[in-house]
Amino acid sequence: LGNLVAGVAHEINNPVGFIGGNVAPAQEHLQDLLSILSLYEENASLPESIAEQIEDLDADFIREDFPKLIVSMKEGCEVIRNISTSLRTFSRTDTVSKTEFNLHHGIDSTLLILKYRLKANEQRPAIEIVKKYGDIPKVKCYPGQLNQVFMNLLANGIDALDETNEGKTFAEIEKEPNSITIATELSADNKQVIVRIADNGTGMPEEVKARLFQQGFTTKGVGKGTGLGMAIAYQIVTEKHGGMISCNSKVGQGTIFTIMIPR
Ligand SMILES: Nc1ncnc2c1ncn2[C@@H]1O[C@H](COP(=O)(O)OP(=O)(O)O)[C@@H](O)[C@H]1O
Ligand SMILES: [Mg+2]
Repeated sequence: LGNLVAGVAHEINNPVGFIGGNVAPAQEHLQDLLSILSLYEENASLPESIAEQIEDLDADFIREDFPKLIVSMKEGCEVIRNISTSLRTFSRTDTVSKTEFNLHHGIDSTLLILKYRLKANEQRPAIEIVKKYGDIPKVKCYPGQLNQVFMNLLANGIDALDETNEGKTFAEIEKEPNSITIATELSADNKQVIVRIADNGTGMPEEVKARLFQQGFTTKGVGKGTGLGMAIAYQIVTEKHGGMISCNSKVGQGTIFTIMIPR
């Protein structure tokens, strides 16, 4: 799937490039045509039928609206390009050998993919993302796999926030906003990169915490939870990277996961 996604993302870049590249000349051409139209309107005695058509066209409105339209097309292209870059970063399939990878890029691309789940909706305001990125070096790792870990942890954080919101009004949630904090730092001995992902969601009771990393363990309803996310994260961090993953959680306060990856 990773290969497929990366391939599609790559294929999308080309046509988006054409569109983005043509927008500016299209605007210039239109500007030229509109100025000629103005000159005609002012200087030529046009046949009645044409003059009427120009009036119907509402050329003034077009003059005003078209540049705005172009700007939003440009922005649209930029958004697509960012998504495509993120998909490629996110779905990196290096599994043969480890490569140097900037974990911040991995986290950012994962956040972009989760954007639709983070943004505001009718039930709640947007989830606040607080980034406390430290000065960390690149890490020798399997980037696609670590991105999967970030995805699983962030998705669980969002699930926990959704759960904590149940029965609360929009205004109540706004007073105590949903938030996810992502902090990175280098360990004191410089040997590990530490990533912390914290949410102020439901938190976990002891019996959940004890089974958290068990394959198939879920507290979520059918169709919502698979109970695989944390087991996979555990395997990727510990077995594939020789790192550590641990969790600190208080019911009613929230959860913080700490991942340590050796450099
Ligand atoms: N951030 C979190 N806050 C509260 N509970 C969590 C959090 N992360 C994981 N859990 C608990 O751990 C369980 C297992 O998580 P996971 O393996 O990702 O499976 P799933 O999300 O499919 O249920 C979840 O069902 C939930 O009860
Ligand atoms: Mg999960």
